[in-house]
Amino acid sequence: MISCATDDVEQTRALAAVVAVHVVDGDLLMLVGDLGAGKTAFTQGFARALGVDTPVTSPTFTLAHRYVGQIVVNHLDAYRVEALTEAEDLALPELLEDGVTLVEWADNILPALPADRLEIRITMGEGDDDRHLEIGCVGASWSARRHELAQALSSWRHDPC
Ligand SMILES: Nc1ncnc2c1ncn2[C@@H]1O[C@H](COP(=O)(O)OP(=O)(O)OP(=O)(O)O)[C@@H](O)[C@H]1O
Ligand SMILES: [Mg+2]
Repeated sequence: MISCATDDVEQTRALAAVVAVHVVDGDLLMLVGDLGAGKTAFTQGFARALGVDTPVTSPTFTLAHRYVGQIVVNHLDAYRVEALTEAEDLALPELLEDGVTLVEWADNILPALPADRLEIRITMGEGDDDRHLEIGCVGASWSARRHELAQALSSWRHDPC
């Protein structure tokens, strides 16, 4: 696990921009955390870094947004997905064929997710703007990138190397 901390929203966006450097077509990123944790904020920094210049907003009512930057950025929200059958409506396999996909409330559809994924778990810290981000590389593809990613995130890390 790569443990990071940010103390304002721009820091979370900046951290996400660094993560964006390490993605390839077909990647899936899980975003997990309570309401207001910063999942959408992360996606904003991530998409901006990939050249998306339209505003990134929460897809809560539409399930999915698609942005086109240097690569396609799919932004999903599984908050309302209760049954796995509904997860099929997200058409995840099709989305994964085209660009990188970020899923808010991804825990809700865990069995539908690919074995290779980056898990980002955001929790509130002490101050109003403090957030902890626990980043886990799951599967061979992300494990191979773990060291490089951890190095790149060193300015936000609070775990020992
Ligand atoms: N360190 C921080 N990182 C991220 N967001 C922060 C931070 N500090 C304050 N904030 C604020 O917290 C809020 C995060 O909102 P955001 O919409 O990103 O949450 P979310 O996890 O997507 O919530 P939801 O589950 O409702 O979609 C924003 O208002 C943002 O300005
Ligand atoms: Mg959100």
